[in-house]
Amino acid sequence: MTLLLFAGSANGPLATEIARELQLPLGDCEIAAFPDGELHVTVRESVRNADVYLIQPTSPSVERHLLELLLLADACRRAGAQRVSAVVPYFGYARQDRRAGGREPVAARLIADLLQTGGVQRVIAIDLHNPAIEGTFAVPLEHLSAAHVLAETARASIPADAVVVAPDLGAAKLADRYASLLNLPVAIVHKVRLDAHTVGVRRITGEVRGLVPVVVDDMISTGGTIEAAVEAVREAGSKPEAIVAATHGLLVGPAVERLRALGLRRLILADTVNLPISLPLPLQVASMAPMLAEAIARLHDGRSLADLLARG
Ligand code: R5P
Repeated sequence: MTLLLFAGSANGPLATEIARELQLPLGDCEIAAFPDGELHVTVRESVRNADVYLIQPTSPSVERHLLELLLLADACRRAGAQRVSAVVPYFGYARQDRRAGGREPVAARLIADLLQTGGVQRVIAIDLHNPAIEGTFAVPLEHLSAAHVLAETARASIPADAVVVAPDLGAAKLADRYASLLNLPVAIVHKVRLDAHTVGVRRITGEVRGLVPVVVDDMISTGGTIEAAVEAVREAGSKPEAIVAATHGLLVGPAVERLRALGLRRLILADTVNLPISLPLPLQVASMAPMLAEAIARLHDGRSLADLLARG
């Protein structure tokens, strides 16, 4: 079975880098839109009997990128691909894993079903907001972790007197993973979300006084969570030079300005989302391409991914 890679428009640089790692060209496809905005996808080379990997995070614009992925999958399935896998480094809708209030969709389940209906037979994702959404997928989900790559990238900037900080309870397991990789203690900020754009802090568990905070999270959206956490640990007596590491740098709305105003010592992000070339931030980008290329190669050959998977 031939291995073929195709990319939607969401993260060209990452797709190019994965292709380079695998020493394969990116497959020829065109994604266009009719004048009314309706998308049209054409796969321009044969995929018959191939093992196809579609590289597309559902980063903003979320709906467009999701639809491109679905259309690419459908085109490949109908053109006779033997297996279609979706490589979705940032998987949106993972926050909507249950009906938190009344009359809400379980969006994570719906998106999983849509991918399957579109012909996707396997999904590869990194640091899902909620790993439990695996249960909403009927197709196999390979959930990879960026923590070791980000921790290695951060290591050179982290002094001995540092503490890994979870900016909310949801990030506690992730913080534990960083702490054991970096051999550092952990503190947890107890966040309260006041509305979609504003967060507050109730208390901090663990010691931060006199230590350099290394705040870790799965994603930075508007930057409100990171801003509140950094301000709270500073108020609690941490050293001011904060380091932040996160997998998905969505950086929407006021995020860049909020992060800039924090005067961070270092911001480490993965390239799961296509980041702007230049940002007024002390940014270091850790590429996920080697890990994703390795995962694709092993899946193609039928080898184990055990050491690449996120646990817990
Ligand atoms: C929430 O639980 C997530 O892990 C992130 O902390 C959150 O989604 C980040 O959003 P924002 O940057 O808008 O605070």
